Amino acid sequence: MIMVKIAPSILSANFAKLAEEIKDVEKGGADYIHIDIMDGHFVPNITMGPLIVEAIRPITKLPLDVHLMIENPDQFIDAFAKAGADYISVHVEACPHLHRTIQHIRQLGIKPGVVINPATPVESIKEIINDVDLVLLMTVNPGFGGQTFIESVLTKIEKVKQIVDERNLDVEIEVDGGVNPTTAKLCKQAGANVLVAGSNIYQSSDRKKAIELLKSEE
Ligand code: DX5
Ligand code: ZN
Repeated sequence: MIMVKIAPSILSANFAKLAEEIKDVEKGGADYIHIDIMDGHFVPNITMGPLIVEAIRPITKLPLDVHLMIENPDQFIDAFAKAGADYISVHVEACPHLHRTIQHIRQLGIKPGVVINPATPVESIKEIINDVDLVLLMTVNPGFGGQTFIESVLTKIEKVKQIVDERNLDVEIEVDGGVNPTTAKLCKQAGANVLVAGSNIYQSSDRKKAIELLKSEE
């Protein structure tokens, strides 16, 4: 089985002590910090903007994995790049000119990722997958932490893994939503190598243990 990376989503952290919450998961073995950007239009919730990314940048050495759940992401890519994002991922469903958007991210020296919602088929990324560093498969409908994992996405993970292997691509396969030790195992078996987890890690009093359980090969 693949050795997975863990990307704690700070959406479930205590925002009143965000710096501590980030340092805690960094010490606990996290590989990336996942930052969920929501605009109240693409998804029914509002969260953070570039100012938060900028504030987080100096407090951790971990790569910042910025997940844009916003309409018209092109308008904000420069700001997130300037704020210190390492990865910027955009939704297929929000990008009418996806190739241009991905190129834009790449030209800024940032690693581009492409995201698909649970009901969006893998076919929709076949033409762009060679140009990205990361494919993010939503395993819940985006908008909130703490939702239930949608099992039908597992076959989509397998399909993406098959494309990545067939084309011999260096692309990470990330899943986001409802990840806990049980669903983490299923995602790993299907071929995912980066697991985003919000509530499972941040609702645990021992974040190191929670991260270890998600990485566990058992
Ligand atoms: C959902 C976000 C997720 C969320 C995951 O829209 O993209 O990153 O924080 O939360 P959990 O792990 O609690 O499902
Ligand atoms: Zn996310």
